[in-house]
Amino acid sequence: MKLTRSDWYRVVLPVAALFGVFSLYGCQSTMRTMGMGPPMGSPDDVADSQALWKALANADLVGPGAVKDKPYTGTPPHGKILETLHTTVTVNGYKGTAIVKRNYGGPGVSINSVKANPKRYLKAVTVMFKREAGYDPEDKDWFWAKYKPDGSLHVKEKMGMKIPLAGRVAKGKPEGCISCHRGAPGGDFVFASN
Ligand code: HEC
Repeated sequence: MKLTRSDWYRVVLPVAALFGVFSLYGCQSTMRTMGMGPPMGSPDDVADSQALWKALANADLVGPGAVKDKPYTGTPPHGKILETLHTTVTVNGYKGTAIVKRNYGGPGVSINSVKANPKRYLKAVTVMFKREAGYDPEDKDWFWAKYKPDGSLHVKEKMGMKIPLAGRVAKGKPEGCISCHRGAPGGDFVFASN
């Protein structure tokens, strides 16, 4: 049988694409069993992010009972107005430092408008949580998450997939939490130390 151009599009390409998807999937699950799964957005990462959010909410740093802090003018990419809070929380039995950054934006945002009505301008809560040694040794063992104000995760859309932003976020990629924070002074991945 001679393949016409339309046969090619109707039959050959979809079969090839399916094959590609399955081999990718197979490869990924092998990586997972070898402990080399995707660095972010796995069900474990999402569960960890929820446990971390709960601990931060109990400490009144996020959620409906969040305490007010001192908003300041920020730098990209985090937002026009920011607040940064440092604390220690226990998550899944492990006690570590958490740095919470509240990112404010939207029309009319200013230090005064945020002071008056923080909830109205809160766009994202980005958090770094220092995990147990060995979690991510090259990157100082930080767990990264980008939350919406209600505690659910922001997602990155890639090839039709929605990847939750939690875990070793964008490890090995030229852009994202880890690669940008690697440039922070002192090699601890933290820009604003206080
Ligand atoms: C392009 C660079 C860049 C990217 C990408 C980035 N950050 Fe940051 N981040 C910064 C800078 C710069 C600051 C200090 C900002 C300030 O306080 O004015 C900062 C501050 C923070 C802080 C407060 C602690 C500190 O280092 O000062 C947290 C927490 C944080 N970022 C989390 C995240 C998370 C989580 C992500 C990914 C979802 C992320 N960041 C992505 C540049 C970046």
